[in-house]
Amino acid sequence: MQVIILPSAAAIGDYAAGVILRGVAERSNYVLGVATGSSPLPVYEALERRWIPELAGISAFALDEYVGLPYSHPESYHSVIDREVTTRLRLDPNRVHVPDGIADDPAAAATAYETAIRDAGGIDLQLLGIGGSGHIGFNEPTSSFASRTRIKTLTPETRSDNARFFSSPDEVPLHCMTQGLGTILDARQVLLVATGEKKASAIARAVEGPLTSMCPGSALQLHPDATVLLDEAAASELTLRDYYRFVFEHRPEWQR
Ligand code: F6R
Repeated sequence: MQVIILPSAAAIGDYAAGVILRGVAERSNYVLGVATGSSPLPVYEALERRWIPELAGISAFALDEYVGLPYSHPESYHSVIDREVTTRLRLDPNRVHVPDGIADDPAAAATAYETAIRDAGGIDLQLLGIGGSGHIGFNEPTSSFASRTRIKTLTPETRSDNARFFSSPDEVPLHCMTQGLGTILDARQVLLVATGEKKASAIARAVEGPLTSMCPGSALQLHPDATVLLDEAAASELTLRDYYRFVFEHRPEWQR
């Protein structure tokens, strides 16, 4: 994994937007994997500010969705992605996909989601946040590294973390439909963003800990092109943080 420590959330947003915009400009039919939550918001802000016409032609696939929330609920990921991604980046809504959390047949909807990703040519770059539990997407601890899109039960920790988006903690759904770790590992490139002290332990376990389903983010150690963008607080428990800074400062010209 490449670990890059930057001075602020805004700097992280700008760096990630640069990587995405380069890909979008270079490749037609670009497929972006998008995340919800607070971490990726500075990335979407930077993409909105640095908008290029090629963005209008990309496809996007969200990582996850709550089960049982109507699409019209302001905190359904259908609504969040529409508000923060589709509208701001002026994407074609027909090319933006979110798992169907209210499907009558969730297993069929999950399989259809995997098929839609494959039919779009696979995900070029998957943007990720990480939860305090170490989850990526909503793959909570003990998720299989080979898992595909399916229904999961959220941990009490995740429900309590996400209660800030709802009027009461009981309103946070119990279940979600999420891309699996296997789905995420299939993306050609992965960019994980994390800021703040609350993420420091999960980041240390994901980046430097053993490969274990107890920290689903550690699955990214298996990915050949995974970059982790952190602020100082999120990087604070990394043993090799000075080395990561040294590597970044001395990156060869072709990597700049
Ligand atoms: C969101 C997602 C989650 C979040 C994670 C961090 O689609 O899949 O993995 O990225 O819970 O959330 P924030 O960024 O709000 O701290």
